[in-house]
Amino acid sequence: MIDIRDQGRRGFLLSAAAFALLPLVPGCRPDVSAQTGAADVRRRLLQNAISDAGCEWCGARDMPDTVAAKAVIAGSEEKGERLIISGRVFRSDAKTPAPNTLIYLYHTDLEGIYGRGNEHKHGRFRGWLLTDAEGRYEFETIKPAQYPSRRFAAHIHMTVTTTDTKEDWIDSILFEGDKLITARERESRKGGFNPILTLTRSGDVFRGIRDIALPRA
Ligand SMILES: [Fe+2]
Repeated sequence: MIDIRDQGRRGFLLSAAAFALLPLVPGCRPDVSAQTGAADVRRRLLQNAISDAGCEWCGARDMPDTVAAKAVIAGSEEKGERLIISGRVFRSDAKTPAPNTLIYLYHTDLEGIYGRGNEHKHGRFRGWLLTDAEGRYEFETIKPAQYPSRRFAAHIHMTVTTTDTKEDWIDSILFEGDKLITARERESRKGGFNPILTLTRSGDVFRGIRDIALPRA
């Protein structure tokens, strides 16, 4: 599992795109054509990332060099309830797996705040995932809090970008039992499936599944 805070120090290793494209046979070097394929995936994803600096919800453009299907967004040193979200991304038919989909996500801290001081406006709890060959992804973080205004339910923002479609937002992950969830949020299905997760608990860790169907291009 890759800790996104370490990504800058790790330098360029092997992108998750290469991971998705290559069967890593022990003792075999990745062939050049497959590496080119991974680079092409990355180039196309960045082309489809929204570059407008005024876009409030975008973040695919900041994709680090190394992106994997799993990531730690908030390390174990962070206070808060541990949360692991996993799921699969499908094409708009909600059936066909969508590998090499870039997910960008961000959420508030324990006080419902995004960026503090010189932090990015989306705060430090932000990350990128690239779905594997079966469209799977998983991230570990802390459960976010409602905004201090208590006007909106606690949520995790997500965008999806593919090699063929522009970055787009989908319904935020919400948590069943949050009294601030609106009727409109209960009905919305941008991203397919139900974004309101009923979490299960194992020890100190909460888990939820957020499957996604890509918006139609
Ligand atoms: Fe938000």
